[in-house]
Amino acid sequence: MAEKKRGFTIRMMREEDYPQIQEIYEIGLDTGHASWEHSAPEWEDFIALKHVDLCYVAVDDENPDKILAWASAAPVSKRAIFDGVIEDSIYVHPDGQGMGLAGTLLGKLIDDATEQGRWSIHSWVFPENVGSLKLHRKLGFREVGIYHHMAKMTYGPMAGQWRDVIILEKLLEKPEERALKRAQEEAEAAGEPNRPILDKLDRADGQVGA
Ligand SMILES: CC(C)(COP(=O)(O)OP(=O)(O)OC[C@H]1O[C@@H](n2cnc3c(N)ncnc32)[C@H](O)[C@@H]1OP(=O)(O)O)[C@@H](O)C(=O)NCCC(=O)NCCS
Repeated sequence: MAEKKRGFTIRMMREEDYPQIQEIYEIGLDTGHASWEHSAPEWEDFIALKHVDLCYVAVDDENPDKILAWASAAPVSKRAIFDGVIEDSIYVHPDGQGMGLAGTLLGKLIDDATEQGRWSIHSWVFPENVGSLKLHRKLGFREVGIYHHMAKMTYGPMAGQWRDVIILEKLLEKPEERALKRAQEEAEAAGEPNRPILDKLDRADGQVGA
């Protein structure tokens, strides 16, 4: 379901959006402060690394064919045990910067990831990318630390220099905390506020001596 806010609409990303997404990606990369990569991949390589159900675009309400920004999430690891941990990417076209697009997209990604039962979002941001740092802090990410001299930059204003990267994380509700909260809300709506706690005690009781 598409969501409306201040002159733009957020919807799921589609393959046919990719030429505009690629262009916005490359404009961001050209700043030299968005990523280590210098060029955006083709669609197949791009989407292969993503969670497709956590990839969005923001389109202009005046011209819905025009993509103003995109956001995506990727797994941080191939190991199934870390399935709930994702990494975000957000790129806004210069025409759309300062409109709250990135904040709205990241908020949507956080809400949907929580709904899916993910439990943590990571982001790596160069210290020089003040816009991205402010965005992430505003959306509740906290700085975990800094990886020092991660790699030598190959292009842009810092070409040839070894660069640090700031690691940020946002902790989401753990799936079982969310399930209990849901059960409590449903029980309260049904007029049985203590039901989930009693169920839990019943289950614990059944385990005694097992
Ligand atoms: C960083 C980026 C995504 C921010 O997009 P945006 O749509 O302009 O951000 P928002 O309008 O949602 O702003 C979110 C907050 O960050 C602040 N902010 C955004 N860009 C800023 C900048 N360059 N300097 C200082 N603050 C900035 C906004 O003021 C806002 O805070 P506020 O609500 O307190 O005023 C965008 O500049 C961009 O696409 N940059 C190039 C690609 C990139 O670096 N992506 C991130 C890779 S880690």
